[in-house]
Amino acid sequence: MKPIRIALTKGRLEAKSIALFERLGYDCSAIRNKGRKLILPVPGSNLEVVLAKAADVATYVENGVCDLGILGKDTILEAGGTFYEVADLGFGRCRFALAVPQGVDFYAGYHTRCIASKYVHVTKGIFERKNMDVKIVKIEGSVELAPILGLSDGIVDIVETGATLRENGLVVAEYLTEISARLIVNIASLKLRKAEIEPFINQIEHFLAKEGTEGWN
Ligand code: PRP
Repeated sequence: MKPIRIALTKGRLEAKSIALFERLGYDCSAIRNKGRKLILPVPGSNLEVVLAKAADVATYVENGVCDLGILGKDTILEAGGTFYEVADLGFGRCRFALAVPQGVDFYAGYHTRCIASKYVHVTKGIFERKNMDVKIVKIEGSVELAPILGLSDGIVDIVETGATLRENGLVVAEYLTEISARLIVNIASLKLRKAEIEPFINQIEHFLAKEGTEGWN
């Protein structure tokens, strides 16, 4: 029978997603010993795990080649996509923040500010809601470099521990939206494979209701 495919976000969320699956009783040995493989079986279940970048998790689930996906709310807010967001998994907690070089008053003066971010769409929304005209520059990673190098006045990025900002002389000017890992489902899959997918979602929801969304991982 065709397996239920779940796309996991590689990197930080991957380890926590695997920890969750193991707590649910799934055998993740193949994923833990994956080498360079990107599609892994979960022995003893009808699940198959696909490892992808966050934005691609959304694309695969939206297009139905994966039934389920785990990705950060940051990517959902940035990339959008048509799928059901069925659970807040509680891990991967962080916040969007506006950060600036230490000692800088971001709002002082009248010049048009330049903001660097990986999250151009999110940044645009933030400053539209403030009625503030800003220039936004897209940066692909290590966005903290942009204000240090003098490219921008500040950054909009995700902050977890704050260590990256601290170690690069930046401070939070404002905390914005809270973020965590979400479980998403393809719309057609939820209808057509309801009998297989619903028990899986329920299993996760019961676990989170019992164990809480923090502290177990
Ligand atoms: C993210 C984010 C920050 C850092 C924040 O980057 O863009 O740089 O984590 O975490 P902290 O508050 O715990 O220091 P990531 O490690 O995903 O890499 P990237 O910058 O290359 O995207």
